[in-house]
Amino acid sequence: MTTKDALAQQKSLRIGLIYNLKRKTPAVEDDSEAEFDSPATVGAIAKALEGLGHSVELFEARDNLPGKLAEGTIDIAFNIAEGSGGRSREAVVPALLDLYDIEYTGSDATTLSLTLDKSLAKRIVAQAGLKTAPFILMFTGKERLPKDLTFPVVCKPNAEGSSKGIFAKSVANNTDELRQIVKSLIKRYSGGVLVESFLSGREFTVGLLGPNKKPKVLPPMEIVFLDKDNPTPIYTFEHKIADNQEVRYQAPADVDPKLKKKLETLASKSYQVLGCRDVSRIDIRLDAKGEPCFIECNPLPGLSPQWSDLCIIAGAAEISYDELIAHIVAPAIKRFHARKRS
Ligand SMILES: Nc1ncnc2c1ncn2[C@@H]1O[C@H](COP(=O)(O)OP(=O)(O)O)[C@@H](O)[C@H]1O
Ligand SMILES: [Mg+2]
Repeated sequence: MTTKDALAQQKSLRIGLIYNLKRKTPAVEDDSEAEFDSPATVGAIAKALEGLGHSVELFEARDNLPGKLAEGTIDIAFNIAEGSGGRSREAVVPALLDLYDIEYTGSDATTLSLTLDKSLAKRIVAQAGLKTAPFILMFTGKERLPKDLTFPVVCKPNAEGSSKGIFAKSVANNTDELRQIVKSLIKRYSGGVLVESFLSGREFTVGLLGPNKKPKVLPPMEIVFLDKDNPTPIYTFEHKIADNQEVRYQAPADVDPKLKKKLETLASKSYQVLGCRDVSRIDIRLDAKGEPCFIECNPLPGLSPQWSDLCIIAGAAEISYDELIAHIVAPAIKRFHARKRS
């Protein structure tokens, strides 16, 4: 769909913007609100929706949300709520919206639960014949390692986002290091620890918009690691919370047509098998042979205008922030009108 089509579909609707508000600045010692959205991001989305001619009501995703939805004051919801507590946390708002029969942007509760549990998402992707690094999900740190798991490995919380629990020291070179990292992560995060063979190649993230069966794939962005002396660089929590000299974003990525096609195909097929719709961002890294492997899928990608990956990707594709929001909301509006007609 072109942006013009997206805009043409818009009629003035009452849109509920549902979010979790970031009140604390994320820090290594306290990352409890790292996935939440800042007042500036909530304001930017509201402004973009109003610019499309809609009225916007703000809903913080708290325990009073059901009562507020029951008042029937909105036609559709724009959902960016990350939720709190447990690996189903992102599914809570979509499930509630389904209960109240309200259309919303983005993927449904099933897809949000599935993708938040990275090991489950990897199983689905692998089962579809797509490449993803060998892994084991650990709950004690004492589990036997599978034969195909090769060192070095990355250890990361299985059900967190925003690089929570991912530090430069998250790469283990031997079993002792692995067990030590896993034990410290288990203490801090629930949902298990995912231990994956380290993918040593270039890293990319791909933005997708639109329907599950035929998404629009935006040009890949590369996360370029600048410290060439580090043999196992990863995109850490520290990189995401502050300016740094260790990573640079290249959008669009400088890739030859063959690699671009492989990245787009992996992203598109992953989006399809994971049941995504409207928007997602898929992280990919090349293995030692240069083959793209699925890392994870973010069906609620950050929408901070200046620095979220998806906004940088869209900007490089000459899609303005307001157009990006228009693309995300358009399918939900279409579903709303289709439902009214049926
Ligand atoms: N198997 C892997 N091999 C190499 N690097 C990895 C691997 N898994 C994760 N990483 C690195 O860790 C970063 C964060 O991992 P990711 O699963 O995307 O977590 P988050 O949900 O916090 O973004 C990635 O962007 C990548 O740099
Ligand atoms: Mg990621």
